[in-house]
Amino acid sequence: PKTYKITLLPGDGIGPEIIQVAIDLLKAIAPKFDLGFEFETALAGGAAIDATGHPLPEETLKLCQASDAVLLAAVGGDKWDTLPSHLRPEQALLGLRGGMGLFANLRPAKILPQLIDASSLKREVIEGVDIMVVRELTGGIYFGKPKGVFADEDGTKRGVNSMTYAAPEIDRIGKVAFEAARKRGKKLVSVDKANVLEVSQLWRDRITALAATYPDIQLSHMYVDNAAMQLVRWPKQFDVIVTGNLFGDILSDEAAMLTGSIGMLPSASLGDPEKPGLFEPVHGSAPDIAGQDLANPIAQILSAAMMLRYGLGEAAAAGAIERVVEKVLDAGKRTGDIMADGCEKLGCKAMGEALLAAL
Ligand code: NAD
Ligand code: IPM
Ligand code: MN
Repeated sequence: PKTYKITLLPGDGIGPEIIQVAIDLLKAIAPKFDLGFEFETALAGGAAIDATGHPLPEETLKLCQASDAVLLAAVGGDKWDTLPSHLRPEQALLGLRGGMGLFANLRPAKILPQLIDASSLKREVIEGVDIMVVRELTGGIYFGKPKGVFADEDGTKRGVNSMTYAAPEIDRIGKVAFEAARKRGKKLVSVDKANVLEVSQLWRDRITALAATYPDIQLSHMYVDNAAMQLVRWPKQFDVIVTGNLFGDILSDEAAMLTGSIGMLPSASLGDPEKPGLFEPVHGSAPDIAGQDLANPIAQILSAAMMLRYGLGEAAAAGAIERVVEKVLDAGKRTGDIMADGCEKLGCKAMGEALLAAL
């Protein structure tokens, strides 16, 4: 079989529970597609802080860089919230994204017909919604300098972050978005705040210039406040959305809720196609339900499917995982977050078993 080295980062909270379901499913699917997986588990986030004092040990980053793909669950939790920012669990994610050069974050929000009633929006508003959010992931206000808490001349404390984008950073994420639109509905909305921010004015200029290379794609621009409103007003107007790091973080959680639950939404973080990508749910470590066998593992499973499709070029195996998810939902099996009348409520483990059985 064709064998892949996969680094697993279970992290914190519900992380270990949901990633186990994905591992079991990957193991089960491997022989069906003549694939082999060599899994290696490493420390990241709060788990790494407890064991080594650092959220992203050098060893973990090296292992990730040397693998074919990285599957991450989630990091973070109250326990580590009082640590200085460079030692917080979230730093593991930022360090991985930066250290692996993962500048493009694909966050698809597609409504499955089985879950229409789980959404907080009306059926006619969300039926048929299929959006791809392309979020820039290694620049913008998350990485811009200066950053820190400084003292003014009079001693007043001042917290500082800088939203900056260099033209090549905008161009490369713009290309990813145009290419994605080309493979989909050929419509691209670039989201910015160009009515106020200079960084957004450069963003808009560069994306507009790129459009000349993609005459087949219909490009439009939207301010981020309006985009947040339009996403809940009439989400079907969107095909691909491209935006910066912070706006993309916020809009992708909003898009997640269109699909019924944030527990459903996967993501792919990609950079150089020759190098490994990182695949993780859009949601976090959900400390409020951790350790109670309540988590929905589907975002993690669909992230494993994205790993197969975008990271390893194994589209057939990816499609098989996606079909298994639909089959289980068709059978009326639900975790609490997507529960509906007449459905059967399962815990995380039982959902995993149902998925395996459906396979
Ligand atoms: P969260 O996404 O962890 O949780 C938000 C809400 O959604 C909670 O009520 C939670 O129970 C629910 N939820 C999330 N995933 C679910 C799932 N799979 N099944 C069922 N319900 C689910 O966001 P938060 O509460 O703002 O953050 C918690 C911690 O996670 C923080 O430390 C934050 O920094 C971290 N975080 C990590 C990542 C990541 O690792 N990629 C992403 C977002 C937040
Ligand atoms: C996400 C998360 C992260 C982000 C945090 C935990 C660093 O919210 O992956 O969406 O803001 O990118
Ligand atoms: Mn987020």
